Amino acid sequence: MEVIIRKDKKAAVDLAARIIEKAVRETPDIVLGLATGRTMEDLYAELARKHREEELDFSLARTFNLDEYIGLPPEHPGSYRYYMNYHLFNNINIDQRNTHLPNGVAEDLNAEGGRYEDEIEHCGGIDLQLLGIGRSGHIGFNEPLSSLMSRTRQKALTPVTIAQNSPLFDKPEDMPKRAFTMGVGTILDARRILMLVTGKEKAAILAKAVEGPITSMVSATAIQLHPNTVVIVDEEAAEMLQEKEYYRWIFENEPEWEEFRK
Ligand code: F6R
Repeated sequence: MEVIIRKDKKAAVDLAARIIEKAVRETPDIVLGLATGRTMEDLYAELARKHREEELDFSLARTFNLDEYIGLPPEHPGSYRYYMNYHLFNNINIDQRNTHLPNGVAEDLNAEGGRYEDEIEHCGGIDLQLLGIGRSGHIGFNEPLSSLMSRTRQKALTPVTIAQNSPLFDKPEDMPKRAFTMGVGTILDARRILMLVTGKEKAAILAKAVEGPITSMVSATAIQLHPNTVVIVDEEAAEMLQEKEYYRWIFENEPEWEEFRK
């Protein structure tokens, strides 16, 4: 795992966007794993700008989102399908048929997780998985005690997550209490992981995720098991990391980061 500390949110988002841009240009039919949430809004705006102004082409790209609320149809403004269309898919030249989210209103909710896993497999697996982190330490909606080997399934959301996300609903009480989420095992199967974390309210959970012991109580610690993971953070989120100076040294000196230092 590598941790890269940027001076502020804008610089962190810019770097994440450049890494994704490079991956898309190198592999036009890339399979991207995508996340939602406030952290990703600026990142998607930057990718859309690169599409508009720098000819970043998504016409062959395929995407799989981490999660979706159970009970919300795609046209509901609180659904993650709506979020993705609004923040990214409607603003780039992706083929909507190549964009995938779990179906929160599937007729057979018990079969939906397996169906989603089959779709990912059918596309050859995820090349680059984008992750945020929730205040409960979740990745996707893998709340505490999610098995580190879990696959896509339904999950009951914790009070911490409900408090984090319900303000995003017009009526906070409308926020569903259950969601589909890729499992921790599904996420670890991705060939690369890119985590983006910003803001001081994430400092404590980020330090646990990156430097703490691996535990299903903090699902994000599972990324320590992944051989190709980069975590991009701003100074505020990095505040409680113990090895900051080491991480800075790596980014400033290792040849693989040279093109991204400019
Ligand atoms: C959503 C997801 C979540 C978020 C996390 C952080 O698809 O995967 O794990 O990344 O809840 O959300 P924000 O960015 O709103 O703090």
